[in-house]
Formats: sequence, structure tokens, C-alpha cells
Amino acid sequence: MSHEPKVLDHEYDGIQEYDNPTPGWWHAIFWATILFSIPYFVIYEMNPEVPTIQDTLEATRTAELRKQFAEIGELTLDEATILRFADDPKWLAVGASMFRSRCASCHGQQGEGGSVGPNMTDHHYKNVKVAMDLAKVIQNGAAGGAMPAWGHQLSTNEVVMLSSFLVAQRGKNLPGPRPAEGEVIPPFGPAK
Ligand code: HEC
Repeated sequence: MSHEPKVLDHEYDGIQEYDNPTPGWWHAIFWATILFSIPYFVIYEMNPEVPTIQDTLEATRTAELRKQFAEIGELTLDEATILRFADDPKWLAVGASMFRSRCASCHGQQGEGGSVGPNMTDHHYKNVKVAMDLAKVIQNGAAGGAMPAWGHQLSTNEVVMLSSFLVAQRGKNLPGPRPAEGEVIPPFGPAK
């Protein structure tokens, strides 16, 4: 480094400044980051084969669920199954966590309702008369897609867990931002 420090020609309150050049190692790191960004961009942003963080999370979640579901096998989606799991704290916790990750943005963390989705902790429902209707709305959506259809994204077991979770949330009457919507329906119970 043969640079002679040069005193710059401005001066404030008696304070002067040397013109010290930015060190070589700094330039090296600077150029290295730029060079690094090119293959990084090509590999991670342009190549659809490389999983994104979101894909990895989704895959891990699915694998974890599959491991848990191995215990109960492939469930039948019907009224009795939904009601059975609505009494099972262990599986309700699984349903609750699915609900938080996929549904809470519209329906609130606990199903208390959000700015878009109705409160599902009261006794009022718009599209639901029996517990099985919860599953139908989850699979097929409602209100022309305002409630999205989840049928091709969720396995049958996941639909059961979410429906059971909503059966269990009913009647908790958690305060949400929206007024009650729809009609009061009879209690969910064993199919008659
Ligand atoms: C994009 C926002 C949005 C998301 C995300 C969403 N919902 Fe909804 N959901 C709605 C809206 C809006 C309605 C009301 C539809 C209507 O007016 O008929 C609704 C209605 C429902 C109903 C019927 C309630 C009733 O009173 O008839 C159920 C059950 C339901 N959602 C479950 C879920 C579940 C479970 C998830 C997550 C897998 C979910 N929703 C995710 C917006 C959403």
C-alpha cells in the first residue's frame, strides 16, 4: 500500500479528513458478493427444480403429518368420524395447528373470525347444518370462492381434522371483529 494519506481540502471546526482509500480486502468482498449473486439468482430464482423455502416447509409439514397419520390410517370422511375426532385432544391440537397455518388469515387464530371470514365459535352458520357440511365447505369452498375450495390441497384426514377442530370450537363464543352471520343451527350430534 503505497498511498500517501492526502488531507482533503475541507475543514469543519478544525477537524480535517484524510483521503484513505477503501482497503483492498473490502473491494474483494464487495466483488465477491456480486459474483456470488449471479449463480445464486440463476439457481434459486430461475430454476423451478430448486425448492423454495416455502416448498421445503410444505414438504416437511406433509411428511410430519403423514408420519402422524400413519397411526390412524386413511379415515372415511363422514359425520361420525368428524364427531369422533372432535373429542380427541391430541388430534384437535393437530387440527388447530393446520387451522392456524391455512385458515387463520381469514378466520382468526382460533376461528373467532377475521376481517373476511365468519366467526365459527358461535352458533350461527351460513352454509352449515350438520358437521359434515363443514367438510363440504372446506373441500368445495363457498360464496363463489370468497371461501376458497381446499379439496385438491388437503388430504381426507386433514379435512377431517379441520372439521373436527371447528366442531370443537363451536360455542366457545370467542369475540371476533365480525357480527354473527347466518342462522343458529341445532347442536352437532350423532347422525339420526
Ligand atoms: C381467503 C379467506 C379464507 C380462507 C383462507 C379460509 N376461509 Fe373459510 N370462509 C371464508 C369466507 C369469506 C366464508 C363465508 C362464505 C359465505 O359467505 O358463505 C368462509 C366460510 C367458511 C366455512 C362455513 C362457515 C359458515 O358459516 O357457513 C367454513 C367451515 C370454513 N370457512 C372453513 C375454513 C377452513 C377450515 C379454512 C382453512 C383450510 C378456511 N375456511 C380458510 C374465507 C376464508
